[in-house]
Amino acid sequence: MGSSCFARGNNLTVINIQQIIKERNWEFCVVVKGVLCQGLCKQGPTLKVNGITYNHIDTASLVDIIEEEVKR
Ligand code: FES
Repeated sequence: MGSSCFARGNNLTVINIQQIIKERNWEFCVVVKGVLCQGLCKQGPTLKVNGITYNHIDTASLVDIIEEEVKR
């Protein structure tokens, strides 16, 4: 949720994550936390899932990332 990532699209990423979780009824098995700048602004927007950082997040890659991580 740092300003660079937020401006580059993570403002929508938050909404999309919430929607994906709700649609799949994952409210009780997924924890979402916003954090400040991770020092990777040039690679942003960034997303960290289960300790893995993903860069250049967009709506299409977001769905793939979350679905793959939930399978692990
Ligand atoms: S604002 Fe996202 S890494 Fe800096």
